[in-house]
This record gives sequence, structure tokens and C-alpha cells, in this order.
Amino acid sequence: MSKAVNIDWKTIGFKYIKTDLRYVSRWKDGRWDAGELVEDNMLRISEGSTALHYGQACFEGLKAYRAKEGGIHLFRPDQNAKRMQESCRRVLMPEMPVEKFIDACVQVVKANRHYVPPYGTGATLYLRPFMIGVGDNIGVAPAPEYLFCVFCIPVGAYFKGGMIPVNFTVSDHDRAAPHGTGAVKVGGNYASSLLPHGLAAKRGFADCIYLDPATHTKIEEVGAANFFGITGSNRFVTPQSPSILPSITKYSLMQVAKDYLGMDVEERDVYVDRLDEFTEAGACGTAAVITPIGGIEYKGKLHVFYSEKEVGPVTRKLYDTLCGIQLGDIRAPEGWIFEVKE
Ligand code: PLP
Ligand code: COI
Repeated sequence: MSKAVNIDWKTIGFKYIKTDLRYVSRWKDGRWDAGELVEDNMLRISEGSTALHYGQACFEGLKAYRAKEGGIHLFRPDQNAKRMQESCRRVLMPEMPVEKFIDACVQVVKANRHYVPPYGTGATLYLRPFMIGVGDNIGVAPAPEYLFCVFCIPVGAYFKGGMIPVNFTVSDHDRAAPHGTGAVKVGGNYASSLLPHGLAAKRGFADCIYLDPATHTKIEEVGAANFFGITGSNRFVTPQSPSILPSITKYSLMQVAKDYLGMDVEERDVYVDRLDEFTEAGACGTAAVITPIGGIEYKGKLHVFYSEKEVGPVTRKLYDTLCGIQLGDIRAPEGWIFEVKE
């Protein structure tokens, strides 16, 4: 089955469109059902669902890539499955087995294969697995039932422009607390980021930088992406903190920097008043891929890294190598590419 879709892959950006089929599995009485693909993109749930009132919800994001030879790759889906299990443990939801999570993603990709953007367009198919607490409930307690769903959308650049530097401003707000839920991908973290994002966007910034919630001196996250900086001595540096989301892209880039580019890699504190230690900086994540950071505004001053217009050479090399691995053009480390058998 090959259905043509009329999409301009170069300009699609990152927005919702309804694709053909999505996966839904229900948890009740202690077990997940077999799960199925459905056409309907509407969910019918109890008005007492914990996801609606108490934020008992989590999600993941991963991508499917069309390779040069025509196959479809998922990038490290086992890592997303395991991170979702961490999220579930933190907000008392039932875990989805890794194999079932990956199988759901594969089913969705296959059922929507004509939406996987062609090789070379820069666009990819974004998969959004999520889990919500549903069923009749009113007290602050875990839900009696759960839904696990996966849908997909073809996407291009998350930040306007893709591999073009954008500026960020440091927020006074926190997205997470020191011993809160920052390290897991639960809905509430994103609700609390809407206002700071909106304030930054209104002032012309792509998004905001969050500092560590305890001392407000160290960089934690760049919107919905992790931060990295390249030092003058060619080190790849990224923040370490219990309240940032462990980005799969970030850990992949650390390995790429070390094993493919021969760089030293450091995960450590990154002080916001020491930005001059970096010659280049970037935001990394599944949606953001690598977005070069032109400058960061802090206390009314814009600190420019490499350039507000041009991508630095190390950021470019990291991007090319990571994308080459994801597309199958560059040999991947063992276990990073999951081939979808069509
Ligand atoms: N940080 C936050 C808050 C995110 O939402 C994301 C996106 O998933 C990331 C970082 C990047 O993580 P990953 O590379 O696993 O997509
Ligand atoms: C992702 O990179 O998958 C994200 O979660 C970013 C955002 C769309 C929430």
C-alpha cells in the first residue's frame, strides 16, 4: 500500500496534522490489553480522569527516518521506552513493557508509512507516545485505568530555521523543583513552561533558558531541549543536574563527540555567568535536533557565542554526524538504529 501525500516537506515545521492511524492500549484490572490501531483521533474519557485534574500523564518523543536505500529507521526507541517507565514510576502509573512500546511505535510507522518524509528533505516522522490516567475518580490518588497511545506527525524544524542560530533569554521562572519531577517527562513540567516560553517569545526569543531551581546560577535546560557548549579547548560540556530531563539526543551527542570526533566530554555544572568559556553553544533534543544558540540574554545583556548568523564548525560537525547516523549514512554504534521491517 503506498498512498501519496501532498505535503511540502521543506516548509512543514512542527505542527499537528491528523495522520491515518494511531495506536491505543488500555490498562484495567492490573493488565494492558492487546492494543489496536484506530482511525479516530478523539479520546472519550471520564470527567474524573486524573490526567485532567492532577496531571497524571507522561509522554515521549522519537522520530522515524527514511534512509537513502529506502528503509525506515527508529533512533534508539528502547531509550524512550525506558524513560517512559521512569516517568510512570514517578507519578504512579503502570509501566509499559519496552517490547510493547516499540511494537506500538512500529505499528504506527507502518500504518502511516506514506507520511514518512523522503530521504534528503530534512523532514522526519515524529512519534508521540503518551500515557494518561483515566476512569472515574475524584480524590488525589492514582487512576483506576490508563490509556497508552502513540500517534505520528511528519515534522521539519522545531525552532524556526532549523540549523540557523537563534537567541534565548534566561527565565526568572523555574520549570522544575530540586527534588521534583524535572528529570521525568510528565505533563506538569510543560504546563509550568508555557508562561516563561510565552514571555520569551513575546520579546523575540526562540525560547528561554532555565537555571537550577535551588540557586539560579547554573544552566539546566533550553526550553524543551538540553544545553551543550563547546570550549575553546574543544571540549563538549553539558550540565549535570537531577532536575533536567536526561536527553537521549544529549547522551548520543556525548558519545558522538568522544568516539567520532575525538573530543573530551564533560557533564558538570555550567554557570550562567561563565558563558565566555564557550566558543559555541547549542540546544539538543529529538524535536530540536541540534539548534545552534546564537546568543543568550542574561541580566539585560546578550552574550553571543560563535555568531548570531552562522553555525560554528563543531556544532556543524556534531549535527552532520548525528543526522548521518540517524539516516544510516554513517555507521551507528551497536543498538542505536532499529529498522522497521515493511
Ligand atoms: N529537555 C526537555 C525538557 C525535553 O522536553 C526534551 C525533549 O524530549 C529534551 C530535553 C530532549 O530530550 P530527547 O533528546 O530525549 O528528545
Ligand atoms: C521532544 O523533543 O520530543 C520534545 O519533547 C520537545 C517538545 C515538542 C515537547
